[in-house]
Amino acid sequence: MADSQIYLASTTAPVNIAVIKYWGKRDPKFNLPTNSSLSVTLAQSDLRTHTTASCSASYKTSDSLLLNGQDQDVSGARTQACFRELRSLRQKLEDSDSSVPKISTLPLKIVSENNFPTAAGLASSAAGFAALVRAIANLYELKEDPTDLSRIARQGSGSACRSLFGGYVGWQKGEQQDGSDSFAYQVAPASHWPQMRALILVVSAAKKGVSSTTGMQTTVATSSLFPSRANETVPRRMKEMEKAVQEKDFETFGKVTMMDSNSFHATCLDTYPPIFYLNDVSRAAIKVVESINAAAGKIIAAYTFDAGPNAVIYYLEENEKEVAGLFKAAIGEKDGWGVERGQKLDANSAAYESVAKEAQVAVDLLKEGVSRVILTGVGEGPIKTEEHLIDAKGEPVKKA
Ligand code: DP6
Repeated sequence: MADSQIYLASTTAPVNIAVIKYWGKRDPKFNLPTNSSLSVTLAQSDLRTHTTASCSASYKTSDSLLLNGQDQDVSGARTQACFRELRSLRQKLEDSDSSVPKISTLPLKIVSENNFPTAAGLASSAAGFAALVRAIANLYELKEDPTDLSRIARQGSGSACRSLFGGYVGWQKGEQQDGSDSFAYQVAPASHWPQMRALILVVSAAKKGVSSTTGMQTTVATSSLFPSRANETVPRRMKEMEKAVQEKDFETFGKVTMMDSNSFHATCLDTYPPIFYLNDVSRAAIKVVESINAAAGKIIAAYTFDAGPNAVIYYLEENEKEVAGLFKAAIGEKDGWGVERGQKLDANSAAYESVAKEAQVAVDLLKEGVSRVILTGVGEGPIKTEEHLIDAKGEPVKKA
């Protein structure tokens, strides 16, 4: 018999930014993609969701989720699918061993916090669903590994399945109708290529115009470019990208990253009615990256954009001055350079002078249009923590 005990477990989970983009569903119900994808998991010290999952017979309400102090609707099919699958795994444990407390049917109370602005247009649903699934799996003491859990998180939000792992992560699209072979896997841990850095230029803090879910459905239905992207271009690029990661070949990694972002946004433009995620400030970031690479005589910086105008620029630590330093000189003082790493970073004024000459319009647009920057790098997957956001009485912990 379940008592009034409060059962608690907590985790943090990372954001990931794809270098081969997921765009298109072959099955919206199980959230199955039309193509495989690959991402870099970003460091949780800069971007993470912290989630506590709890359950108790003493909870008066049904399942609930509080995100950054705001009640969220949990009745949607995606959240329900995650709850259902996790509960059924717990139920199996309870059925197989009578000493296991029967908690699978108790109301769930979940409290979640992001350490970054939710509305910044960063992939918050990925970290959010990954943290939700991992926290409940911890609460239920499930034995399933991250690959098994990625099948569940995928149903919350596709990109979330990749946030169950750290480092460099693939999501294989799979062939089965039930989604059993559509899961995430680690291509390489963060320690394999720890020098990977990411500079995020937050261009707009506004919520995105067309949601990815709606956008990708319309693209699949209307774009004539889309089939060749899904069936030919991406399968080829997945192989090139996995090899580039294995061999730590930044030039290939960077080139394929930029080309795949361009290809994804080309299918958005080819959607009817067209979808525009990039704006003038995004294009200015592309121009500056091109100037940086031209000055270096090789690819040392690579841009990529998701379903919004924010730029993510990957580069290696050895080129921090040439890439992030140049952006610091170009953009000037913004929120975000204030972190320890940003303060240490010298504005690369000399290189900036030469780029500014040929990209003055772009530089002016960036100065005007970038609201904050985030300096981060490759990082680890979800981390279990004893720091709970729900207290022993089952109440959300009040922030000081
Ligand atoms: C452009 O994972 O947000 O960021 O599965 O409908 O929730 P749903 O979509 P979502 O799509 C992310 C698309 C992307 C590319 C990527 O992350 O691979």
